[in-house]
Amino acid sequence: MRVFHEGSVDFLSAENNLKTKGSIFYNPMMRISRDFTIAVLDFLSKELNKGRVSFLDLMAASGVRSLRIIKECSEASADVFINDYSKACTEIIKKNLSMLDYNKSRFKVKVLNREALSLLSSPMFFDFIHIDPFEDINKYLYMSIRSVKNRGVISLTTTDTASLSGTYPKACMRRYDAVPQQFDFKHEFGLRILIRAIQIEGAKQDKALKPILAYYYKHHFGIFMRVIKGRKKSSEVFKDHKYLTFCKNCLSRKITPSIFNDVKCSNCGDKLSWAGKFYTGSLISREFLDFISKNYQKYQFGEETKKIITLLKEESSISTPFTINTHLLFKRYNIKPARISEIIHLLRNAGFKAERTHFNPLSLRTNADIPQIVRLLKQAANHNTFK
Ligand SMILES: C[S@@+](CC[C@H](N)C(=O)[O-])C[C@H]1O[C@@H](n2cnc3c(N)ncnc32)[C@H](O)[C@@H]1O
Ligand SMILES: [Zn+2]
Repeated sequence: MRVFHEGSVDFLSAENNLKTKGSIFYNPMMRISRDFTIAVLDFLSKELNKGRVSFLDLMAASGVRSLRIIKECSEASADVFINDYSKACTEIIKKNLSMLDYNKSRFKVKVLNREALSLLSSPMFFDFIHIDPFEDINKYLYMSIRSVKNRGVISLTTTDTASLSGTYPKACMRRYDAVPQQFDFKHEFGLRILIRAIQIEGAKQDKALKPILAYYYKHHFGIFMRVIKGRKKSSEVFKDHKYLTFCKNCLSRKITPSIFNDVKCSNCGDKLSWAGKFYTGSLISREFLDFISKNYQKYQFGEETKKIITLLKEESSISTPFTINTHLLFKRYNIKPARISEIIHLLRNAGFKAERTHFNPLSLRTNADIPQIVRLLKQAANHNTFK
């Protein structure tokens, strides 16, 4: 064991903290997910406008997420349930709690040593549940959504990015009922496939699940979804589930409710490929964006979290549910490369919206289509506009 530090807590975890079997897992790279959990719990507490909220850390390992909640949440008062089926983990969680100086009247903490599904089968309901297994999350989705109270939150982190982003298309079809593709925005597409899969699990229980925040960072997806009960609302989530057609020749792409009519690319006439279905709505809710913008300074966010929030804010002003890799365009159209900031400037000057994206530093989000971007890039290259 050794002491680690994250945010405002010191805690014990295993020396070999990244080993998944028979150890106590702690991945410093997932700090971003824990940073966001704290902000989302405060946001939820404010939204629900009730005295205490309940939070279940379903697979807690060292308990660092919950430790940080009880130290760093500035708005919420909460009943915090910290669970792991490993005895070694729950012992460390208890030790970590005993080392922590926190406000015991604001935070009531209970450590549980239960298998997740058996815990979720008991008649307990929570305002916020976080799922964080090693393997794929499907096994826990239905029961977790079932155990979230109306207007509560379900969140998860998953490293199953390879199947969702097209490396293992058959696994993606099996687990998430969608066709992925390895195109230049494969990670965003994978994240959106996963959101749709979660929404379908919710709809089976007449619950509408909408993203508060969804992001991609270094081989993991993080998703926080608001859960609202209601048949009408849960039927409406399907309106955002669409296909994507794309042309491997000219790189054009289009969102479509049906893939039956689009056979040839309207730009170059080549055969179209398709992928989906996927969620086409926003990745961050307007309410959470307002909350985080106002309260940003209060939190012990890591530098990477701050960067992602800034980029998410910028890109959320454009509703196009995919990004475009500029280097792919340069290569395909044999255009002299330019900096992303210059291309954004160029597009804005031509009356389009354009922003950077947290998914890829070489990509941009814009409402201009591929022929429009290519025309502008070629004009700029001919006039030596770029430095
Ligand atoms: C990825 S780690 C969790 C990391 C932690 N949430 C964090 O932020 O540091 C996964 C944990 O889930 C626990 N776990 C896996 N399957 C479980 C199950 N079915 N029920 C309860 N705990 C489980 C493991 O013992 C392990 O500690
Ligand atoms: Zn084409």
